[in-house]
Order: sequence, then structure tokens, then C-alpha cells
Amino acid sequence: MSMSAATVLAGPVVEVQSVPIPAPLRGQILVRTIFASSNQKDCKRSTIYGQPPCNQGDDVAGIVHQIGAGVVGFSVGDRVAGFHNPGTEHGTDAEYTILWAYAAFHIPENVSFVEASTVPLTGTTAAVGLWRVLCVTEPWHAASQGGERNAIIIYGAGSAVGNFAIQLARLSNLHPIIAVAGKSISFVESQLDAQQGDRVVDYRGEESGIIERIRQALKEANTTANIAFDAISEGASQNILGAVLEKTGHIATVLPLQQATGRLADIKRTFTISPLVFTSPSETELNPSVNHWLAKTFFGFVELAMADGSLKGHPYEIIPGGLDGIQTGLEKLKNGNASALKYVYEISKA
Ligand SMILES: NC(=O)c1ccc[n+]([C@@H]2O[C@H](COP(=O)([O-])OP(=O)(O)OC[C@H]3O[C@@H](n4cnc5c(N)ncnc54)[C@H](OP(=O)(O)O)[C@@H]3O)[C@@H](O)[C@H]2O)c1
Repeated sequence: MSMSAATVLAGPVVEVQSVPIPAPLRGQILVRTIFASSNQKDCKRSTIYGQPPCNQGDDVAGIVHQIGAGVVGFSVGDRVAGFHNPGTEHGTDAEYTILWAYAAFHIPENVSFVEASTVPLTGTTAAVGLWRVLCVTEPWHAASQGGERNAIIIYGAGSAVGNFAIQLARLSNLHPIIAVAGKSISFVESQLDAQQGDRVVDYRGEESGIIERIRQALKEANTTANIAFDAISEGASQNILGAVLEKTGHIATVLPLQQATGRLADIKRTFTISPLVFTSPSETELNPSVNHWLAKTFFGFVELAMADGSLKGHPYEIIPGGLDGIQTGLEKLKNGNASALKYVYEISKA
């Protein structure tokens, strides 16, 4: 049996081809794709990093079509969404895709396929950055402890990663949140809790001006900040955060660390890598599946938090044309058109 799948070549140029429908291995599920969404790296992989073309999609919402051996908790016909392991075969830009069951969740009745498809990759990035890298207390512990009440700076708050970082930070009761955004300021404001001292700072303009505005926001909130989530990590963002954090601070980046000069050199920085949740154990880890626990826990949390409305998907635009629309979505991403927006594609009808 064959299906249509998209391959992203340098440019990006998207080619749709006919390929065999894959079969799930032990621990995997085969999902019929209803919606897939694009991520920034989908247009960077071949175009900027020069890596071989492949099916780039990693975000899917769809219907379980086949179950691999050893999978529990999923049945054929279930509405699910999940995070495909980046760089491996059978991505989500196709009529059928393969997910590891531990990186999938049931879509609650009140949540649409399209909304669910906006969450997996960038939501996981926010969770890894906050919970694993910055060691923020997870929402279920924070609730029982009365919350953390620590300030956090979230740079690039209008990005999908930034939006999920805000939502997770709020659920851990981190306040004030100093959110750095530009065109998306009104959306970001709607995500914050001004009563708790959260504020938005505009990133547009001179670096010195941004630094001054963040310092002013911290001063007005009568606080200092020790942690920052840099959901941009390009241009001046790491330097700006280095200038405003405490010297004991810690920055989670989403791209590799830039050369540090001045104050930034003294501040701890860690590159957040969302596919960590798929990786095999390193020698330092205690249990072979420790990273999979994080994925399983995160997606179990997403299922319940979306069901009760505590967590929402990212705003989206449906690009028409199904798999053929991916070319347009990736061009928009490359041109920087996305402002608090994820590009999604309806691959088949539910
Ligand atoms: N390491 C990982 O595992 C991982 C995983 C996911 C993503 N990433 C990386 O994380 C970054 C964000 O990805 P995403 O999918 O969340 O992006 P996205 O949603 O497409 O980001 C678009 C947003 O970025 C904001 N932005 C652009 N330049 C900015 C700047 N200089 N300062 C502040 N905000 C800026 C824009 O804000 P305004 O609209 O407010 O102007 C826009 O809303 C990308 O570089 C991506 O490759 C890494």
C-alpha cells in the first residue's frame, strides 16, 4: 500500500511523492494524518544546514491506524496527536506517520485536531527548557507548594516555543513573567497575568534600549531575575539576557550558544534540545528510559491540561492544498512572516 509524502529539499522546495505506508515497530503507533504543522527547522535543515532532504514534519494530529507490539493505552480509531522523532523516517508531512507511543497523547473531546497539531514539538521544547534545563518546579508540584514566585524572562514570547513557555511558567506560578515580544505584543499580553506583575517589553529598536526596558520592567516589578528562556537565541538575544540577569542566573537557549563576551561569559547557559526526549541513555543517566519518562509525563499532562482548558494550542493559519501547501508554509516561515502563528495543513479529512 502506498501514500503521499512530502520531501523538503534546499530552497526550501517541497516535492510530494508516492512512498510505501510504513508499519509500526514495537512501541510505535501508525497514525493517519489529519493535520500536520511546520516548524522553523523544517526550512533550515536542507537550506541552511545542508543536511539531506527528508520528510521534515514532526507535529501531527490524526487517527490511530495500526498499533505496534507492546503498545498499551492506544487503540485503532483513537484521536491522537504527538511529536515525531526529528530526523528519523516516516515524519508527519505524509498521509500516515509513525509516532513512539510515549510521545503521543489522546486529543480531548473539547480540542480540535488542528489545535492539537500546534502543540507537540514546540510544547516539548518549552517543557524541556523549563523543567529539565532550568529546573523549574513542574506545575503539579508547584501547586502543592503554593508556587515558586520567582521571576522569569521569556524572550521571543510570541513564538510558539515562547507561548508554551509562558503557559507552563504560569502553571508553575512563576511571576512576574517579563515577556519580550514585538508585532505579537497584544497576543502576548493576553497570555499574561498583569495582576501578578507580568509585563511585556518590546524588542524592536536598539540593543541598549531593549536592555533598559527589561531593567525598567524588573524594577517596576520590584524584583530581579535569575532565569530566562530564550526562545529566539539569535541576533542579540543572548547578550541582552546576559546584561539583565543576575550573575548567578541561567539561560535556556533554543539554538546553539553564541560566543560569550562581557557579562554573558559569567552566566550559565544551556542549549535546550527537544529531541532529547527520544534519546537513548548516556552513561551519566540512571535509567535506560529516563528521557522517555519526560515525554510520557509531558504528553499525559498536555492531555489533561488541554481537557480542562489550562493549556491551549498556539494560534494557527491553515494553508490550503494539503501536502502541496507545505511549500507555501515553509516560504512564509523562511521570510519571517509568522507572528504568533503556526502554519498547519489539512492532510486528510477526519
Ligand atoms: N532546540 C530545539 O529543540 C528547538 C525546538 C523548537 C524550536 N527551536 C527554535 O526556536 C526558535 C523559535 O521557534 P518557534 O517555532 O517557536 O518560532 P515561531 O513561532 O515561528 O517564531 C515566530 C516569532 O518569533 C518572534 N521573533 C522573531 N525575531 C525575534 C526577536 N529578535 N526577538 C524576539 N522575538 C522575535 C516573532 O515575534 P513578534 O511577532 O512579536 O515580532 C514571531 O512571533 C527557532 O529558531 C527554532 O528553530 C528549537
